[in-house]
Amino acid sequence: MSIKIAPAKGKLGILTPGLGAVATTFMAGVEAVKKGLGEPVGSLTQLGTVRLGKRTDNRVPKIKDFVPLAGLNQLVFGGWDIFEDNAYEAAVNARVLNAELLRKVKPNLKKIMPMKAVFDKNYVKRIDGPNVKTKGTLADKAEALMDDMKKFRKENGCDRLVMIWCGSTEVFHRPAKVHQTLASFEQGLLKNDPDIAPSQIYAYAALKSGVPFANGAPNLTHDIPALLTLTKDRSLPVCGKDFKTGQTYMKTLLAPGLKARMLGCNGWFSTNILGNRDGEVLEDPGSFKSKEETKLSVLDQILQPGLYPELYKDLFHSVKINYYPPRGDEKEGWDNIDIFGWLGYPMQIKIDFLCRDSILAAPLVLDLVLFLDLAHRAGLKGVQEWLSFYFKAPMTAPGLYPEHDVFIQLMKLKNTLRWMRGEDLITHLGLEYYD
Ligand SMILES: NC(=O)c1ccc[n+]([C@@H]2O[C@H](COP(=O)([O-])OP(=O)(O)OC[C@H]3O[C@@H](n4cnc5c(N)ncnc54)[C@H](O)[C@@H]3O)[C@@H](O)[C@H]2O)c1
Repeated sequence: MSIKIAPAKGKLGILTPGLGAVATTFMAGVEAVKKGLGEPVGSLTQLGTVRLGKRTDNRVPKIKDFVPLAGLNQLVFGGWDIFEDNAYEAAVNARVLNAELLRKVKPNLKKIMPMKAVFDKNYVKRIDGPNVKTKGTLADKAEALMDDMKKFRKENGCDRLVMIWCGSTEVFHRPAKVHQTLASFEQGLLKNDPDIAPSQIYAYAALKSGVPFANGAPNLTHDIPALLTLTKDRSLPVCGKDFKTGQTYMKTLLAPGLKARMLGCNGWFSTNILGNRDGEVLEDPGSFKSKEETKLSVLDQILQPGLYPELYKDLFHSVKINYYPPRGDEKEGWDNIDIFGWLGYPMQIKIDFLCRDSILAAPLVLDLVLFLDLAHRAGLKGVQEWLSFYFKAPMTAPGLYPEHDVFIQLMKLKNTLRWMRGEDLITHLGLEYYD
């Protein structure tokens, strides 16, 4: 039995709080792909396939032909930022895509003007800008965001909207009293409670407007009871946190391989140099703490030192990020991994990943918005754990540990798509081939 999925008709509006490097690389990239100027490399929704039935059946459709996703021509973009640059100017400043390509998509990007942001310098300390909402309480600002969405939807003739946080990393904070219930959260908005972060106001405004929400940064944002209740009440799918792109992606590829072979590991030292605005924001210890928490969490969950003390109980894991402007978005991430084998004999692995941060993140934004919209039309609500594949710190149901192994995450994602379409789930048991 397949589940009922409403068709992907009409326009899908993608709204990003934050029109920086990631958001503009995503938007420019979609426009470039539409014009045949490049391929959507890195995007599972555009290039990936899903095997159906037996290995001998030879049924391997593209994911986008198997489930009803919105097409690239149906997407329209909008966003908020504290700076006044339009998406073309912001993309030029981000120095990710070359000038020639940007010139070709300039007419599309120039039209995307940032709406006035809800911003609080206590949450992002290293930057400040003029394009912000200043009037009223936090509740008034939430209302103003809802009005922005209404206006955007009308002006662009959108059938549906999805919001994805591509804003700066906010300082680390733990859930407080105000985050516990919807009533306390709404009271907090009225009283300008300092424990409510700007990203939470965007998430609240999205959910109140019936818009699915994803979080690409490590901020707490909607991972609080008050907003998770709202996802259930309004039947809205959500996911987060923190795009899994560079070094952590490598980690979740390698660590399951070491564990699969019962190889030990007693040290994993990771360091990065990064010169974009994200790198600048992460110089602030509070913002870095948010990032560090998500970056550190993966190894313990994958290697399970509690289950394998002889292999991983002494693991020393350290992650550093240094702001280094000359590199811009072209981050370099080094890993030194101290492993050991048979009888404890030591070995080392070195990784030097010369990556491009936003080039890796842009296709994830595309996949996430298309899948969240699919989930919404399929009637799925609350945390979408099958989208863990995209995140460093996947959100889960309370009390459930997150699955970080990227291959398990991918299997879960594809099995969810099979389930949606009433196809057999693939267990890889395969006894039938030997009957
Ligand atoms: N690029 C990657 O590989 C990657 C991976 C994981 C997570 N992320 C996260 O994605 C986010 C975006 O990264 P980026 O490289 O585009 O950063 P960026 O600094 O280029 O862009 C972020 C933008 O958000 C804006 N902003 C900050 N607070 C805002 C607010 N309250 N409302 C509206 N706009 C606001 C900033 O002015 C800035 O233009 C960051 O939080 C980053 O940590 C990126």
